[in-house]
Amino acid sequence: MIEVNKGTDPLLKRAFSLFRKTGDGLQILYRVRGKGTGILRNMKEGTSLDMLGPLGNFYPLPSEDQTPLIIAGGIGIASVFSLIERLAGKAIVFYGARTQDDLLMLKEVREYAHDVIVSTDDGSAGKKGTAAETLRSFLPSYASSPAQFCIYACGPYPLLKALSQTTKEYRIRAYVSMEEHMACGIGACLGCVVKTHDGYKRVCKEGPVMTATEIVW
Ligand SMILES: Cc1cc2nc3c(=O)[nH]c(=O)nc-3n(C[C@H](O)[C@H](O)[C@H](O)COP(=O)(O)OP(=O)(O)OC[C@H]3O[C@@H](n4cnc5c(N)ncnc54)[C@H](O)[C@@H]3O)c2cc1C
Ligand code: FES
Repeated sequence: MIEVNKGTDPLLKRAFSLFRKTGDGLQILYRVRGKGTGILRNMKEGTSLDMLGPLGNFYPLPSEDQTPLIIAGGIGIASVFSLIERLAGKAIVFYGARTQDDLLMLKEVREYAHDVIVSTDDGSAGKKGTAAETLRSFLPSYASSPAQFCIYACGPYPLLKALSQTTKEYRIRAYVSMEEHMACGIGACLGCVVKTHDGYKRVCKEGPVMTATEIVW
């Protein structure tokens, strides 16, 4: 949770994924969405900001015999990038965005992934469609051995929902990183809950990573 302004407007910190660890620091990768991220964009280099974190959980690693399939929609790449880096050469990445220009860090993703399947909504790069659709066309060849895969995903809600239907059908375990509006970030305000088959869960505390099957989509 990062403070975007020293004053009271906006009052609340904004949630970001730990995009990448550097020598003695960390990087975030963000898309300008509204007021807070707009302020961040115009901030002078060297400005100090308060930060609360790291918060929440993380993606569990796959077992040695599993092939990780990583699905990223748009800025969702910020959440899975460290995992791709950590899995050094093992992950097959399905990376989708609205247009070619929205495919951030593609060169670096290619560097660390085993393979990258790109898609865009407008067809300006890779296959036309979403990352959930490209995953769906990839899986039938492996229908007899779905347990060899472990899926990790972050992106817009409709992408995660579509993906969860596919992984349920193929009985593949999928971990999704959920995005909800955050207020406190520490589990106190209940502003970030999602409905699961085991009651409501807080994205900031029990998440953001949850299994696709536990969520009531
Ligand atoms: C766990 C988590 C990790 C995140 N990681 C990243 C990241 O690495 N990079 C990144 O760019 N963004 C990330 N986000 C989203 C980021 O928090 C929002 O984009 C940011 O808070 C927007 O702030 P703003 O003041 O610019 O927009 P606001 O002015 O607050 O809102 C602008 C518009 O965006 C919508 N919006 C704002 N926040 C969210 C949200 N969380 N979910 C859905 N809609 C929202 C609002 O409803 C409004 O329509 C993450 C969110 C969560 C919950
Ligand atoms: S943001 Fe307050 S409980 Fe999650």
